[in-house]
Amino acid sequence: MRLIRAKDYQDMSRKAANIISAQVILKPESVLGLATGSTPIGIYHQLIDWYKKGDVDFSRVVSINLDEYCGLSDSNPQSYSRFMREHFFDYINISPANIFLPDGTQTDSALECARYDRVIVEHGGIDLQLLGIGRNAHIGFNEPDVCFSRGTHQVTLTESTIAANTRFFESVEQVPRQAYSVGMQAIMQAKKILLIASGADKAEALQKSFFGPVTPQVPASILQLHQDVTVIADMDALALCPAE
Ligand code: PGA
Repeated sequence: MRLIRAKDYQDMSRKAANIISAQVILKPESVLGLATGSTPIGIYHQLIDWYKKGDVDFSRVVSINLDEYCGLSDSNPQSYSRFMREHFFDYINISPANIFLPDGTQTDSALECARYDRVIVEHGGIDLQLLGIGRNAHIGFNEPDVCFSRGTHQVTLTESTIAANTRFFESVEQVPRQAYSVGMQAIMQAKKILLIASGADKAEALQKSFFGPVTPQVPASILQLHQDVTVIADMDALALCPAE
């Protein structure tokens, strides 16, 4: 694991955007595994800026997002599909045909999960997987469990995740209780992983994930077994990690 220490959120965002931009410049047809949440917003804004300046071209990029809430259509303001459009896709030249997210309206979960796994395989897997990390160390919506997930699956969100995500909804009751999430197999098969973390509320998750035992109770700890992981975290998130 390569640990890059960022001064603050802005520094983290810029450093991570540099890595994504380099990936797309080196391989214009890259398959990016993209993530939602507050943490990646600064990265997306930086990439939009560089796109507008002509420094990076997304016309051949494929995006395969990590997850989507069950029960929300792509027009729902809280859906991750809408999030990606509002924070990134609407401002760059990615082809709509190259944008993939799980379909939250599909009620046959076995069918939807199998479809999404086929999308990943048909595109040759993920070149660069961007990951945030939950306060409980989830990645995507792979929540703490007794075993690691494999393929795309339907998840029942933990109380901690529901509480954390309430800030995006009008009330806790409105937060969907289930989601579709890419599993650990596709994440671990990604050629490169870029995990970002900002803020003191991620410090414990970061310390346990990268400096504790590998266990499904700490989902991100599985990344210790991946051969090309870059973690970019700011000083607050690094507070509990070893100094060097
Ligand atoms: P956040 O979410 O970026 O909004 O903190 C990260 C995550 O839950 O994966």
